Amino acid sequence: MTNEFADRLQAVISVEIDRSGNFSSIVESSEAANQQQTNEVFTEKWEKYGSTQELEKFYAFQRRWYLDLYGFADEAALAAHLADARVILDAGCGLGYKAAWFAELAPHALVIGMDFSAAAQQAARLFGDRSNLYFLRGDIANTLLATGSVDYVSCDQVIMHTEDPDATFAELARITDPRNGQFACYFYAKKALPRELLDDFFRLHCKQVSSEQLWEMSEQLTELGKRLSAIDAEIDVPAIPLLGIKAGTMPIQRFIYWNFLKCFWNEELGWDTSLATNFDWYSPSNARRFSESEVRDLVAATDMSIVQIHVEEAAFSGRFRHATA
Ligand SMILES: C[S@@+](CC[C@H](N)C(=O)[O-])C[C@H]1O[C@@H](n2cnc3c(N)ncnc32)[C@H](O)[C@@H]1O
Repeated sequence: MTNEFADRLQAVISVEIDRSGNFSSIVESSEAANQQQTNEVFTEKWEKYGSTQELEKFYAFQRRWYLDLYGFADEAALAAHLADARVILDAGCGLGYKAAWFAELAPHALVIGMDFSAAAQQAARLFGDRSNLYFLRGDIANTLLATGSVDYVSCDQVIMHTEDPDATFAELARITDPRNGQFACYFYAKKALPRELLDDFFRLHCKQVSSEQLWEMSEQLTELGKRLSAIDAEIDVPAIPLLGIKAGTMPIQRFIYWNFLKCFWNEELGWDTSLATNFDWYSPSNARRFSESEVRDLVAATDMSIVQIHVEEAAFSGRFRHATA
């Protein structure tokens, strides 16, 4: 981190940062039991997943998906969007590869990656060579960043894992520049009723099982997803609206996956990534799901307007700006 960018960070944050490197820890634990458990399982997930051979494939997949989720035609369109940014925040950065991507696309901007798990420090080690990139271990529900100080806030696949997503959304809206800043956010979507009930039951149960058991269950679910995906047959599903089951022709694995049980399998991404995806679904105690109207209400409650919204089976995502901008 060069002095220029360290000065820029120090000017917008209300704690003393360590200028000798690219990492500072603001807060490492939460008093909220579910947030603390969520931090611990993500620490474990990223520590294990950080050494997989599949990382580059995962990064490439995530970058492509990110452009779709937030309505950028291609990487050049994202770079153009960031062209005037002075400060960018990757809120809940995990391994930090998206923060590193933003730092590459916007070398003139200070990019901050913040995560409440120990992954923030792991990210600082992985991407220590970027002069405009700094990692903080901290809570994105209380960023300690100045009001309106960030030009682009990206909170991708994170907000539902925070203790109070409404409060987190309000905090990230607060730090977004009211003139022309934008805040990109992703929300898990509510699924069919049997799947929702099972997910909630499992998550409650998962709090009482050891992490070895959680990994073991995730391996079993990955194997199930793999075997179901190997069935070369489709089912023509009739709609069952009261249970939230939608009509459509789909492979057997997808029918089970969307309606009953998360058993992720993606041949192209590989075993480790599929395993981490299953672990990441059941293990964190915090994992709220939203309806589209709940997302719209949340945006309106913070007095923001919708620039772009994207709907997928599993998620809603969008870019938001202050209504007065
Ligand atoms: C599914 S991962 C997504 C990581 C990254 N954004 C990505 O797209 O790869 C969710 C991340 O949110 C982080 N997280 C959860 N609650 C948080 C909080 N209150 N503050 C900061 N990070 C949080 C977790 O530690 C985890 O790394």
